[in-house]
Amino acid sequence: MNLYLAPLHGITNRIFRNVWFSHFSGFDGAVTPFIPAAAASRSAAKHYRDIDPSVQGPVPVEPQLLAGPRDAIRECVASITALGYDEINLNMGCPYAMVAKKGRGSGLLPHPDAVRTVLDALCSSGTFHLSVKIRLGQHRPEELDGFIPILNNYPLSRVTIHPRIGKQMYRGTVDLEGFERASCNCVHSVVYNGDIFDYGMFEVLRERFPEIDSWMIGRAALMDPFLPEEIRTGTRPPDERERLRAYHDDLFAVYERTLYGPRHLLDKMKEIWGYLGYSFGFGGAPRAKAAPPEILRAKTPVAYTVAVSRLFDSVPLTCGDVTPHTH
Ligand SMILES: Cc1cc2nc3c(=O)[nH]c(=O)nc-3n(C[C@H](O)[C@H](O)[C@H](O)COP(=O)(O)O)c2cc1C
Repeated sequence: MNLYLAPLHGITNRIFRNVWFSHFSGFDGAVTPFIPAAAASRSAAKHYRDIDPSVQGPVPVEPQLLAGPRDAIRECVASITALGYDEINLNMGCPYAMVAKKGRGSGLLPHPDAVRTVLDALCSSGTFHLSVKIRLGQHRPEELDGFIPILNNYPLSRVTIHPRIGKQMYRGTVDLEGFERASCNCVHSVVYNGDIFDYGMFEVLRERFPEIDSWMIGRAALMDPFLPEEIRTGTRPPDERERLRAYHDDLFAVYERTLYGPRHLLDKMKEIWGYLGYSFGFGGAPRAKAAPPEILRAKTPVAYTVAVSRLFDSVPLTCGDVTPHTH
């Protein structure tokens, strides 16, 4: 079985990945947040720094490109492969209006000609393995009947499918019938991605799709960082609280060193808590952002640290149980 960390733009950057991978296990690799092919050169430098191989951790990463038919695809591919990468993932799933309405991300999906143009440009840009990450469509899941046959004509190493449509963003539920149809019609190796929030959900999906051997997890890696390990081994560690605390403290320390000023530091850590709070029972539904209110209210690093200590010292963890599962 292969298990990958999903890209979360603005969150799973190199700093986050390296801290996460030094505290938790279970993933075989990660896809990086997208590098926009249209980025102006100053912001492009920041994106390429994020994939600089000399500062990556032990887990292999696959750079992701966000590109539309009119973008400078060859130049971007050249910049990525010059760093030594021989795999690139194309983002065909980003649903944000600013991206999709310009014909990038999930905005590509309703336009077969644009899909062909981008794939032609990528496939003629050099020798590397190309994978894609898609949704079921932008407006309707029927769009997949248009673009899956196109994907089948290209030598793709993997197709990761997030079974929502673009206009859903992250709302509603995953469309498992749609996933089944897309994966059955796809000749490439398929990775399932979407709403694996706990071991039970993973088991349901594995039973329903026994032919799928590759899985990708995004938000749950932040909500319950032990989940990939639990999926991999069937067990959870006995010292979750201590390990979560050590992970948090490392992340805080490295962001304190690298971010500019307390405001950025607190914003970043509160964003992390929007997911991690789930481990402490905040947030209600699994999909809801779950930052504990006392942490959200903190206006200085000192107040933040006090709130975090109080949480770790007194609030019980609610994720998972420590009973081993039988595979
Ligand atoms: C904040 C955020 C940022 C994301 N950034 C990216 C991205 O850069 N590239 C991409 O392909 N998907 C991106 N996604 C989608 C995720 O990779 C993933 O497909 C989605 O969250 C569903 O998986 P999950 O339910 O395991 O989180 C993002 C999702 C979120 C919530």
